[in-house]
Amino acid sequence: MNTPWYHKTTIYQIYPRSFFDSNSDGIGDLKGIIQKLDYIHELGFETLWISPFFSSPQADTGYDISSYTDIAPEYGTMDDTLQLIEEVHKRGMKIVFDMVMNHTSIEHPWFKESRMSQNNSNSAWYIWQDKPNNWQSITGGNGWHYSPERKQYFWSSFLPFQPDLNYRNPEVKKTMFDTVRFWLHKGVDGFRLDIFNVIYKDAEFRDNPFSFKLIPTEDDPSGFFQEAKYNLNQPESFEFAKELRSVCNEFGDRILLGEVSGDRSIIRKFLGDKINNGLGLVFDFEMLSFEFSANYFRKLIERIEAHYPNPFMPVYVFSNHDRRRSINRLGDDLRKAKLLAMLQLTVRGVPCMYYGEEIGMTDLPQPFATALDPIPHKFTFIPRFIFDFLGLLINRDEVRTPMQWDEMRNAGFSSAEKTWLPIHTNYNKINVKREINDKDSLLNLTRRLLSIRNRELSLQEGSLNLLSGLPSSVLGYERKFENKKVTVLLNIDEREKEFSFEFSECIFTLSDIDDAKEKSIRLNGFGGIIIK
Ligand code: GLC
Repeated sequence: MNTPWYHKTTIYQIYPRSFFDSNSDGIGDLKGIIQKLDYIHELGFETLWISPFFSSPQADTGYDISSYTDIAPEYGTMDDTLQLIEEVHKRGMKIVFDMVMNHTSIEHPWFKESRMSQNNSNSAWYIWQDKPNNWQSITGGNGWHYSPERKQYFWSSFLPFQPDLNYRNPEVKKTMFDTVRFWLHKGVDGFRLDIFNVIYKDAEFRDNPFSFKLIPTEDDPSGFFQEAKYNLNQPESFEFAKELRSVCNEFGDRILLGEVSGDRSIIRKFLGDKINNGLGLVFDFEMLSFEFSANYFRKLIERIEAHYPNPFMPVYVFSNHDRRRSINRLGDDLRKAKLLAMLQLTVRGVPCMYYGEEIGMTDLPQPFATALDPIPHKFTFIPRFIFDFLGLLINRDEVRTPMQWDEMRNAGFSSAEKTWLPIHTNYNKINVKREINDKDSLLNLTRRLLSIRNRELSLQEGSLNLLSGLPSSVLGYERKFENKKVTVLLNIDEREKEFSFEFSECIFTLSDIDDAKEKSIRLNGFGGIIIK
């Protein structure tokens, strides 16, 4: 069977509010994205994933939707959306929308109706109970909220203003599948699926068992002293993934990329049991808390290869709009960021980069009390240094600051007086324009690596074989497709390394010192090389 396009693609995530402001209101918009499409195209990415821009009170910047088929006015209009889809396709690229199926905004007309009484046309569209059980929300604390009009509690997996839809109600399921069809008809190439693993909850609302775990981790979402046994990763959700796949198949090969969390053997179930009968791709969030060492990456790749063997395909993601930017874990060290990009763009998997990652944009610390993100307001009573010590990002505004295009006012993002979030103070040093003109920049490295990836089938869909017998700080792997082979060697250490290695041609080096002569290879500290 041929490898589907979405297993070979490269993804660039746009947070629309922060990408480019075309109408000077301080907020990024759809026309702004259109104006910057050539930038992304020239970089070499194929697929754009755009965080939600649908009608919303913006209490969770768009992840609280009040109409799935209307566009929030600050982002533009339906015409702009159609034009965006068309412009993306004109460039031979793909476009992926963010589908928040699990919950709506509390302002959605369905919920407004549902909460009014136990007997109305939307009364069974959300999850209502007379008495709450012990489930905790993903963000901590009780996820049940009382509605005095209806005299019942509704369930919110995330924040109180994001009530969960009831997928056990066939009307809800049909309406949401039709919403998916609505956008597929308009030419969207697929969806990133927001917190997809909480879609179904236990039908009997059984209490979750006690657990000693306080903080949820990537491999185990249990936390706040309870095992998340009955409110996520339910068997019905795996079946739902298959149904959603068949809806998409009505339109041909479309991407479905799930935001799911939990043990790998569980989240693998979202992919279905054979190629193309489940989601197709899932994020594997262990990578978002990676350690920067050869040993760590060797083991990570071994684990990933074991869980997502061909014909499954992993996704390699190191940053997104909810987590610290990867460069933060690297002490803002550009040499390390370059090596990480080299790994991400050459390893077996779909790379997914977050806007600004290609120029090394850094987090901008901001106080919890004035945050636009609702999450930090839940935690103002806990001193910030505790979260920093634990490496947790609470104020997501810090990773959502506007894109740094140039050295002009507002980093070239907007000509407004005030931008929706502050511009990072380092924009004079870290910006697209400057990096385009610097041949050794992270941006140009990303572009060169993408162009190599885009012409080497072995990097797009080849098998991966980890190499042994190398110096311990050198991570090496071979990518093989049919009779073509490419080898990648990365020195994840600041000391130079020299070792013997047979090869015929060097196609890429990270620094001038990296060298490949005759049968010997010399890698600079944090150097890397691609050879044939
Ligand atoms: C996902 C999104 C996040 C959002 C949440 C609720 O985790 O990535 O930004 O706040 O779901 O929709």
